[in-house]
Amino acid sequence: MPDPQYVHAAFSAIASRYVTANHILSLGADVVWRERVVQIIAEWKPASLLDIATGTGDLALAIKRALPETQVLGTDFCRPMLDVALSRGLSNVLEADALNLPLEDASFEVATVAFGLRNMADYGAALREFRRILKPGGHLLVLDFNLPENPLLAKPYSLYLHHVLPTIAGWVTGESAAYDYLGESIESFPKGAALCELMNQSGFKDATCLPQSVGIAAIYIAEVNEALPR
Ligand SMILES: C[S@@+](CC[C@H](N)C(=O)[O-])C[C@H]1O[C@@H](n2cnc3c(N)ncnc32)[C@H](O)[C@@H]1O
Repeated sequence: MPDPQYVHAAFSAIASRYVTANHILSLGADVVWRERVVQIIAEWKPASLLDIATGTGDLALAIKRALPETQVLGTDFCRPMLDVALSRGLSNVLEADALNLPLEDASFEVATVAFGLRNMADYGAALREFRRILKPGGHLLVLDFNLPENPLLAKPYSLYLHHVLPTIAGWVTGESAAYDYLGESIESFPKGAALCELMNQSGFKDATCLPQSVGIAAIYIAEVNEALPR
């Protein structure tokens, strides 16, 4: 499981270059994945949404642009990342650990977490905390990296993650060590049916996985399970 102090230090170090590095390293695909997330949320038309591990605010800002009526709060435990989000126009932010959110029970209709759950120290505890702040009938949406199932793609993608990506990230951010960890974290993060099962065991129901871009990313959707105790 990821070490929170390491994760905090890594994102503090790359905060000012994070947005540029993301777009270069994903060849712009991260923008497409976030737009797909926005389309899904637009169908739910939530009055309130918490973007957990909001970082520099890319997803929260995309949601605000598309759904101006939705009250969007972005939360993250890394102040330098939130400072970038503020400078980019995300006015409503909260510095907090996602595993212990200083927010009331059942206070949001939707929670989103993009490329964040994978970095947390305890996935089950994090999911239970997300469920705690969601209203009955509320939805959780997780966007994260995945590994392509096609064996022809698996090997080249692994080479990209462990060699090409840290090298290019080092050039862009000056911090290749932070990106050495990325490949390991993607490989050890539960994927597809395994993450759906974990969501369903952690207070949600009907968890679904929507693979993106030949499976290198995935969107997971689940609804609060009111049959389970809060
Ligand atoms: C890869 S960035 C993702 C940022 C943003 N969601 C995006 O889509 O670009 C991961 C973020 O998760 C945050 N994070 C990791 N563990 C956290 C925790 N336990 N509590 C709050 N934020 C956390 C980091 O500070 C970082 O900003």
